[in-house]
Amino acid sequence: MRRRVKARGIAYDRSVAGRDTVFLLSQGEPGEGRRARNAADALTGRWGRCRSQGPTIRFYPAGEGRHNPGHRSAAIGGQPATIDPPVGGDRDAAGEDRFTATHDRQAILMNDRDCVRFLQAALPELHLRWPGFRRVRRQVCKRIGRRLRELGLPDVAAYEDFLERHPTEWSRLDEMCRITISRFYRDRRLFAFLEDDVVPTLARIARERGDPDVRCWSAGCASGEEPYTLAMVWRFSVQDRFPGSTLRITATDVDEFLLERALCGDYGASSLRELPTAWRSRAFETREGDFRIRPTLRETIEFRPGDIRREAPGGLFDLVLCRNLAFTYFDEARQREVLRRIEDRLRPGGALVIGSGEVLPAVGEGFVPWPSGPGVFRRIRSAAPAGPTEK
Ligand SMILES: C[S@@+](CC[C@H](N)C(=O)[O-])C[C@H]1O[C@@H](n2cnc3c(N)ncnc32)[C@H](O)[C@@H]1O
Repeated sequence: MRRRVKARGIAYDRSVAGRDTVFLLSQGEPGEGRRARNAADALTGRWGRCRSQGPTIRFYPAGEGRHNPGHRSAAIGGQPATIDPPVGGDRDAAGEDRFTATHDRQAILMNDRDCVRFLQAALPELHLRWPGFRRVRRQVCKRIGRRLRELGLPDVAAYEDFLERHPTEWSRLDEMCRITISRFYRDRRLFAFLEDDVVPTLARIARERGDPDVRCWSAGCASGEEPYTLAMVWRFSVQDRFPGSTLRITATDVDEFLLERALCGDYGASSLRELPTAWRSRAFETREGDFRIRPTLRETIEFRPGDIRREAPGGLFDLVLCRNLAFTYFDEARQREVLRRIEDRLRPGGALVIGSGEVLPAVGEGFVPWPSGPGVFRRIRSAAPAGPTEK
C-alpha cells in the first residue's frame, strides 16, 4: 500500500524517492505556476539535494495541463498520483513544512486586521519592529495562519493564549518572522556603485597592505543571491584590474534550508530580473527554464549557518553587507548590538553596506557615509569587542 507523507506542505508518495522523474502539475490558478515551481524546490530540498542532482522535476505551468490532456493529472514517477497543488509558495523559515497546501486556503486568508494587531503586540517581545514588517506582513501572516491550523486553534487570540501557556512556541514564532525575499543584483544603483567605486577601492587598499584577499561577509545571504552577485561584480568587472587578488566571501544565514538552496544554486527567472542581461549567460547555465549558477562563481564563497544576533564569522572583513535584515526588522537595541558586532569585524577603512531605505542606529559613530554611496558607510575607528563572535 502506498503511504502518503507530507513534505513541506505537499503530500507526496514515499516511492518518489527512488524515482528518476517527478511530475508536478499546477492546476491553472493564478500564481500557481510559481508555487508549483517552489513545490519542486521543496521536493528536492526534502532529500537535501539540488534539483540538478535529485530526480528530474518535470514541471507543467498553469494552463499547459489544460492544453495537453496527457498532463491533466499530476504524476509521481510516471504513475498517476495526486499531489496537493501547492498554494502560497512561500518558503517558510521553520524547517519542516515550508509550503502551504490548498487546504490551507482558509488559513492563508486569516483576517489581516487580527494578524496586524497580533504582530504589533508580539514583535517587540522578539526584539523585532512592526514598521519593518508592515509591507511584507503577508508572508508572516500566512505562516501564522498555517501554524494555527497545525495546532488546531480557531484564531489569533487562541494562539496568544497558546504562547502564554507554551513559552517554547516563541522560538517557533521567531522563525516564522524571518522574511526571505531576495534577488540577484537587488538594487541596481548600489551594485553599480560597489562595482565602480567601493570594491576597487577596497581591493587597492588590500593590495597596498600586501594582502591578496579582499574579504567580504554577506550577513543574511538568503539563497545566495547577494553573495553570488558580489562574486559576479568581482569576476566580470573588477578582477582584471587586480591580477593576483581574490574576493573571498563568507555568506551566512540563520536558515539552513536557504543555505542548502544557495549551495545548489538553482534559480527561477524571476530571481534574475534585475541582473544586467549581459551577465546572465556568463553567470548561469540554463536548463529547462531554470538558471544554475556556474561553479566558478561558487569557488570563492563559503556558505555557513550563523545567527547575526549572536555571532559573526571569525577574522576581519574589508566589506560587510547587512541588507534588509537587522536594520529593517530588529528593534533598536538589537540593531545596536548587531552594528557593534559588525564594527568589530570590519577593518578600519572597510565598508558596511545596508539596504536602501535603512538607517544605522545612533551608535554608528564609528562609521561615516561613503562619499556619494547609497547606503554605504566606511568604518573609521577601532571598536571595542562586542562579546562572543567566533564560531
Ligand atoms: C529579506 S532577506 C535579505 C536577503 C539579502 N540580504 C538581500 O538583501 O537581498 C533576510 C535574510 O536574513 C535571514 N535572517 C533572518 N534573521 C536572521 C538572523 N538572526 N541571523 C542571520 N540571518 C537572518 C533570513 O533567513 C533571510 O534570508
